[in-house]
Amino acid sequence: MPSTQLLVIGAGPGGYTAAFHAADLGLAVTLVDNGPALGGVCLNRGCIPSKALLHAARIINDAAAAEKIGLKFGPAELDVAKLRTWKNAVTAKLTGGLAQLAQMRKITVIRGQARCLNAHTARITASAGGSEHVSFEHAIIATGSRPVALPLMPASARVWDSTGALDFPDVPASLLVIGGGYIGLELGSAYSAFGSEVSVVEALPQILAGADKDLADILIRRLNQEFKAVMTATRVVKAAEAADGIEVTFQNDKGEERQERYAQVLVAAGRRPNVDELGLETTKVQLTENGFIEVDSQRRTDEKTIYAIGDVTGNPMLAHKASAEAKAAVEAIAGREGDYAPRCIPSVIYTDPELAWCGLTEQQARTQGMNIAVSKFPWAASGRAMATGRTDGMTKLIADTRTGRIIGVGIVGAGAGELIAEGAVAVETGLKAEDLALTIHPHPTLSETLMEAAQGLFGQPVHLIRPKK
Ligand code: NAI
Repeated sequence: MPSTQLLVIGAGPGGYTAAFHAADLGLAVTLVDNGPALGGVCLNRGCIPSKALLHAARIINDAAAAEKIGLKFGPAELDVAKLRTWKNAVTAKLTGGLAQLAQMRKITVIRGQARCLNAHTARITASAGGSEHVSFEHAIIATGSRPVALPLMPASARVWDSTGALDFPDVPASLLVIGGGYIGLELGSAYSAFGSEVSVVEALPQILAGADKDLADILIRRLNQEFKAVMTATRVVKAAEAADGIEVTFQNDKGEERQERYAQVLVAAGRRPNVDELGLETTKVQLTENGFIEVDSQRRTDEKTIYAIGDVTGNPMLAHKASAEAKAAVEAIAGREGDYAPRCIPSVIYTDPELAWCGLTEQQARTQGMNIAVSKFPWAASGRAMATGRTDGMTKLIADTRTGRIIGVGIVGAGAGELIAEGAVAVETGLKAEDLALTIHPHPTLSETLMEAAQGLFGQPVHLIRPKK
């Protein structure tokens, strides 16, 4: 029976990071994945292809908006096949790169399905056929998550999950997105730019409930203009395939029903962990009541030889959280000190404008009864935002008044997803707001909005006058 020091099951951003880091530390590593290419959902049918489509959408929107500044382009002519080919080439290049990196690290990569037989052995059924038993000293489960299916939706090519929508077969005339979360809003925005008439239905009373309302409202205002409808506190209670679309029945929280037909429906109602088919019942690995794998601060399960990382261990289901857990788990396996104990995991919704936040939101800090100071810097006061025609933004800092440290940052605006990294460094390192205020930021950049928001905690920012209380 072949043996390995570390068996990593799943080659997404959690699994491949774990495999690479372990190989770099000198461990013999076997990496198993049942997909056609390394990279998991993120690279193959998630983060990366969606960002490629959103990039194309942004060009369309920017070109249309340019008319205001004296640049008139004709309407975009979308070549769906060419755009799809480009998107696929982006993912192929990245997944191919991972395969090379794995090879150079001498990692044994197997395409197949791994199933634990006990705390030290797994059976790997190869995608090409045949199976073998592999013994391991340690294993890391990094099998990710998959979209939640809605049983009431008919099985039809007119019903997509995120994978179907990212395949980008065409641009439907009308698209209903079920779920106003990350996936629904990102893909809804992309298809809207490509020409679909997009409606979003969300069961909760509000979309973007996790972010502070003052920031979310700036994005919501734009989405309300872009989308045909954003229906909150509403559920889909019935759906049936008709000749030219899906006939959907909605029910709002008052019990009122109405029907509408859509050419296409995208179900983006959350994701659930891939824990089945892993043979966990043959081990001591325990699940939480929500079906995630239970782990300690080093990402070790109740079975001492088995660790778990990424979506399979719970929210937030984010690639960068999985990669950070991967490092922590491998360090523990290699006998090094350290825990997975981040102060912040940044969230970004890559709509236009983007919405990003890290650390505590104002709402969370107030709910916890903390003594906080909050400073907001509207992008209308930023020269760079003005010069790029994108003043629809806001940068917000939340500081602990007791320590003067920054405990939360929220940003909405074009490029917020890049800017939040500075906020993440501030929160993670416990930076004092005063130090951010005194750090010289390059002019003219949107990063100055962070500095000016910090200045606002100590008086007036240079480019803003706020009435004295
Ligand atoms: P989500 O949890 O972000 O949003 C799903 C939304 O659907 C929720 O607001 C929920 O209330 C609503 N919902 C559920 N059932 C419904 C129903 N029957 N009718 C109407 N509304 C319903 O999940 P989403 O968007 O599917 O994304 C899944 C995961 O993928 C997220 O947890 C996120 O972490 C990750 N992701 C992250 C991205 C990013 O970082 N930019 C992009 C895409 C996904």
